[in-house]
Amino acid sequence: MKHTQYVAREPDAQGFIDYPQQEHGVWNTLITRQLKVIEGRACQEYLDGIEQLKLPHDRIPQLGEINKVLGATTGWQVARVPALIPFQTFFELLASKRFPVATFIRTPEELDYLQEPDIFHEIFGHCPLLTNPWFAEFTHTYGKLGLAATKEQRVYLARLYWMTIEFGLMDTPNGRKIYGGGILSSPKETVYSLSGEPEHQAFDPIEAMRTPYRIDILQPVYFILPELKRLFDLAHEDIMGMVAQAQQLGLHAPKFPPKVAA
Ligand SMILES: [Fe+2]
Repeated sequence: MKHTQYVAREPDAQGFIDYPQQEHGVWNTLITRQLKVIEGRACQEYLDGIEQLKLPHDRIPQLGEINKVLGATTGWQVARVPALIPFQTFFELLASKRFPVATFIRTPEELDYLQEPDIFHEIFGHCPLLTNPWFAEFTHTYGKLGLAATKEQRVYLARLYWMTIEFGLMDTPNGRKIYGGGILSSPKETVYSLSGEPEHQAFDPIEAMRTPYRIDILQPVYFILPELKRLFDLAHEDIMGMVAQAQQLGLHAPKFPPKVAA
């Protein structure tokens, strides 16, 4: 596991997390800005989730508030975790319909980008779509497969996750829209992903598994679903068979420059 400067906040005996006022201010800045940027860019299913969650603007929401909505829509919950968790814990949580949320928020210095997923990324980026049964089903299946997978298989599954749940785009009757939470929680990537700059490829799960990525740059390529239901259908296909095929075919050459060691 990598190191991080962040520490997740602990709840009191009632499960309430008392964030300092300055951290509520960071949430307010992020959500106010991002709700404007996603206008016309986020897919309808995500916007429906935003409407259901009714996220506060002036303060960081408590996980219990999110759980009420997720529980009533898809039976999912959010689970409080430390700033970084091992793959094993991640898959165990998803396999039991619990989405990990680290209860810390980025510092004002890292407002635009940080590598650790903070509470804004997890709640604003991922929780709206967890109210959607298709997306929820795919995420649950993914967790169960990941839990049973070997270390080598998990690397391929991680790329599938990256190219869908984190950085996926989709076509809709109203044009190409974003559903990936990694994009929707980043102002820069929300605009960039739909600009003419990056490459767009029709979604193919094996191709997604074969495509390398870097977590510290804007993505050079995005995969486009024909519709969100494609993820639900995929959940009922032989994903581990696809992993085996991807392993056999091997990785594509990266479309990004190698990371320069600091
Ligand atoms: Fe994420």
